Amino acid sequence: MRFVESEGENYHPKPGRDRELGFTFSFPVKQTSINSGYLIKWTKGFAIPDGVGKDVVQALHDAMKRRGLAMRVTALVNDTVGALAGARYWNEDVMVAVILGTGTNACYVERAEAITKYHGESPRSGSMVINMEWGNFWSSHLPRTIYDEDLDAESLNPGEQGFEKMVSGMYLGDIVRRVLLKMAEDSFLFGTEVPANLYKPNILRTPDISKMHQDESADLREVAKVLKSILGVSSTPLKVRMLVVELCDLVAERGARLAAAGIVGILKKIGRDGSCLSNRSKCDQGEGRHTTIAMDGGLYEHYPKFRKYLQETVAHLLGEEIAANVSVELSKDGSGIGAALLAASHSQYVNT
Ligand code: BGC
Repeated sequence: MRFVESEGENYHPKPGRDRELGFTFSFPVKQTSINSGYLIKWTKGFAIPDGVGKDVVQALHDAMKRRGLAMRVTALVNDTVGALAGARYWNEDVMVAVILGTGTNACYVERAEAITKYHGESPRSGSMVINMEWGNFWSSHLPRTIYDEDLDAESLNPGEQGFEKMVSGMYLGDIVRRVLLKMAEDSFLFGTEVPANLYKPNILRTPDISKMHQDESADLREVAKVLKSILGVSSTPLKVRMLVVELCDLVAERGARLAAAGIVGILKKIGRDGSCLSNRSKCDQGEGRHTTIAMDGGLYEHYPKFRKYLQETVAHLLGEEIAANVSVELSKDGSGIGAALLAASHSQYVNT
């Protein structure tokens, strides 16, 4: 509302026209048309039971009406799809978009004929975007520990979003806290008393572990500061601080490597991992072409070591030759821009 009020005269719609909006909605939705879809479930710590099963566009329209805003949604898009559209607008090599932020998810461009459950009209381009909702991926092969199990059991959505809980920014800090708590209880890591704050869920956030992990000072000053300000531990031997850094490293590396494995899985699925050379039927004619993965989200943007592990693992899994043709590129705020582009291309006033 404030943004609309701040817009100059030139941007006012012609009389009788509503403003049109691209609506980025970063939760699982059963999409029923370009501008309607109902919420399947909440993720990332949201819990508003009333919203589940409702058309989220209708809910936004109702809210805008209450505020006297003459606007309508012309495109409802998941943030991954927005990121893909925003990045692909500039660069046709973008085949995949990944969000690594509070939550995580990915989408990619698939050949329409490879989508067996789709029975609608074939799109003119021959391809469609698949929103994977990979945060809910689960496999018994995932390296899940007791800390992951406890975090899951105590979360607002137990049994759901298993992959997201091992990878995304909402959870990495709390995994570290849980391990520290165990070490404080069993091995007196912080002395004979367990710091009371260590019992508080989510008190240690991912930006805190990033700060400790990136600490390059000889005496690990930043680590000491975080331990003091957040956990109330006033002095720690250097050895303990080093151990804390090591733990942050383990948790971030695991998350980054899992996300990288997800990306390589997509590249395999669309034949951009070199496999086209041996099996042409599964390919999108893109073999040998450069493939770009558009990345958005605060975890990837603000956690350099996480970013480095992810890039290294993608390259490692693909092998040097194929990796030379693949790049992971930050597309900051790409999802909002992409949603706006999609809204513009679905405008009901096109050609008028
Ligand atoms: C949601 C996805 C979203 C992702 C990143 C997940 O929790 O289920 O829809 O794309 O977070 O925001």
